[in-house]
Amino acid sequence: MSDPIEEFKSQVNLNIQHLGTDKDLQGLSNIWIRETSRLRYTYNFSWMGRPIIQFPQDVFAMQEIIWSVKPDLIIETGIAHGGSLIFYASMLELNAACDGPRNAGVLGIDIDIRAHNRNAIENHPMFKRITMLEGSSIDSDIIDQVYALARGKTSVLVCMDSNHTHAHVSGELEAYAPLTTVGSYCVVFDTSIEDMPAEMFDQRDWGPGDNPKTAVRDYIQRHPEFQIDKRIPSKLLITTAPDGYLKRVK
Ligand SMILES: C[S@@+](CC[C@H](N)C(=O)[O-])C[C@H]1O[C@@H](n2cnc3c(N)ncnc32)[C@H](O)[C@@H]1O
Repeated sequence: MSDPIEEFKSQVNLNIQHLGTDKDLQGLSNIWIRETSRLRYTYNFSWMGRPIIQFPQDVFAMQEIIWSVKPDLIIETGIAHGGSLIFYASMLELNAACDGPRNAGVLGIDIDIRAHNRNAIENHPMFKRITMLEGSSIDSDIIDQVYALARGKTSVLVCMDSNHTHAHVSGELEAYAPLTTVGSYCVVFDTSIEDMPAEMFDQRDWGPGDNPKTAVRDYIQRHPEFQIDKRIPSKLLITTAPDGYLKRVK
């Protein structure tokens, strides 16, 4: 007799395979992302009271990763209002309640932690699992501090969501991707910029041709220890990180 759990998994795998080859649906999703981005759709959500600047779909993907990887350290560049920091900390809290690592923590880095954001994050019940560093994520002094805090950690997840230029993300990848432990992920957000019209970024330092996806392409060529997990964007369809979920395989 067939195992119903395995049968369901196979069905889901098949669904995802179909989504991954459905060009119409992918095109439709890109249009949806483009049009909602113009209206700053990603600003509309919060996690445990803090604004989280992400698509809910990516938040769901991160939940799945954090549950399966059980990191004892999550590093995030780009804090903003702290929604993702609080989300990651709350997931570590849940993991700890379910026999995951007890002393897991989140380390956030931002060049400008605004006073009202710092205050709200520091007064949040999840702050007990959070450390914040202020400075540029590619500054050597900050990199040294991150490495010092990562010492002794056995399962590390890295997320990049700060300045979205090719040069900056390349610097972050060189600095922090090596901290990703085997089986875990280095997640590079906003690779979707590559697939958007240039005029959307008139006021920005990044745009098509100069963004996190171009940095990932360069990095991955020189680093076979990482593979792009195509399955995640295939199943999400709506994501700011197409080709941005990098799995460390060796
Ligand atoms: C898109 S927001 C981050 C959103 C946040 N990760 C979330 O999920 O809600 C980008 C943040 O990156 C920060 N930033 C910009 N340049 C940076 C740099 N060189 N180093 C570190 N952080 C930077 C900005 O101050 C801003 O808070």
